[in-house]
Amino acid sequence: MRTIVAGNWKMNTDRASAAALISALVKSAGSIADGVQVIIAPPFPFLSMAVEQCAGTRIMVAAQNCHQAEKGAYTGEVSASMLKSIGVQACIVGHSERRQYFSESDALIGEKTAALLAQGLIPIFCCGEKKEDRESGRHYDVVTEQMKGALGRFTNPELERIILAYEPVWAIGTGLTASKEQAQDMHAHMRSLLHMHGPSVAERVPILYGGSCNPSNAESLFGQHDVNGGLIGGASLLAEQFLELVRIAGMKQ
Ligand code: PGA
Repeated sequence: MRTIVAGNWKMNTDRASAAALISALVKSAGSIADGVQVIIAPPFPFLSMAVEQCAGTRIMVAAQNCHQAEKGAYTGEVSASMLKSIGVQACIVGHSERRQYFSESDALIGEKTAALLAQGLIPIFCCGEKKEDRESGRHYDVVTEQMKGALGRFTNPELERIILAYEPVWAIGTGLTASKEQAQDMHAHMRSLLHMHGPSVAERVPILYGGSCNPSNAESLFGQHDVNGGLIGGASLLAEQFLELVRIAGMKQ
């Protein structure tokens, strides 16, 4: 299974800093280890530029969101087919910030995932429990509901094209990280849910860890059996840190 390091830039950078960050990554793209997949998800206005700068390298460009409809009167929205038309290859869906600030439900996230799959794009599907869910011992149930609620409708070949990310909400942008045991236990749980669809789904779908992942904790997190890399927020904005995470991912191969 490949190891994936994906950078979620969120609503950060401007044209100049985005271009500089991409250039720094492109310059080092030649040293990405075999079996490591690097993905960056800049904000919408910089996606075309990212696709152009990353052309011919092993860095894949992803969006951070899309609308579920193919086209139409949805002012301010961006469709999966638009993303495809500019060379974007993947898109994050179900991030906890979209769930929290934009009230995205599991059903809606499922529709967005379907729209991406219909266009041949790779959905990077995020799920994860809040602090109170973990404290009350409901964390496995919450993640099960999120996965079943959004992904229950898909066929095995469709599921095999999805990347999953476990992002405990209490660890995102907080500096708190799940312990390697907490991460492994949840990833194993998610893998067992995939297994219900058959062994090939469980074997092929990567499960990334997200939540304050950085060069000082990545080695132990990426070293876990069911952790197939990371979805990185803050540390993806600093080329040196992100490249170090890419290097650490290479150690798993
Ligand atoms: P963080 O964000 O690395 O800044 O915690 C992770 C994410 O939201 O994907």
